[in-house]
Amino acid sequence: MPQTSSRSGRGLLLPVLAFVVVLAVGVGAWLTLSHSQGGVTGIGGPFTLEDGDGHPVTDRDFHGRYLLVYFGYTFCPDVCPTTLNEVATALDTLGPKADRLQVVFITVDPKRDTPSVVRDYAASFSPRIKGLTGTPEQIETAAREYRVYFAPQPATGGGAYTVDHSSILYLMDPEGQFVVPIRTDQTGEAMAAEIAKHLT
Ligand code: NI
Repeated sequence: MPQTSSRSGRGLLLPVLAFVVVLAVGVGAWLTLSHSQGGVTGIGGPFTLEDGDGHPVTDRDFHGRYLLVYFGYTFCPDVCPTTLNEVATALDTLGPKADRLQVVFITVDPKRDTPSVVRDYAASFSPRIKGLTGTPEQIETAAREYRVYFAPQPATGGGAYTVDHSSILYLMDPEGQFVVPIRTDQTGEAMAAEIAKHLT
């Protein structure tokens, strides 16, 4: 009965097509929704760390203000101090606009960067930069959320070691959503101009 089976096959075509269309529309709507909620990049997310006094601090504690996030470590020979110097210049350049901006320096070297070490280091560049540390697990979680790469290098004879790490500033909005990356290989004035464009 070839005719019967071919007729029933044709009868199935329409429902199958309709299902595919509904599925496509559904997936499209879901993608749009997740994108509008900041899912495009997936940068940032919940973290718990320790502030300069060793008290727990979470991403939610920073909601309500723009947040500029940088990962590094206090023993960093070049990139971190250079970047933090320029960030301090950016804060000065922004002037009163910087009141709505908090800068956090999150260490990728919690072994050496205790709460007071990272606090004092960050504050030495600007009193408006908050140094944060945490347990190795907390640091790893935060770095993963921000897609930050870091890798401690083998110690030299004296026991000193460096930590390779990506160097990028992340601007987050008052709801904790990623806004834009800020390049670190530019002057503080250039950083300020870029940041100012996004502070609404
Ligand atoms: Ni560094």
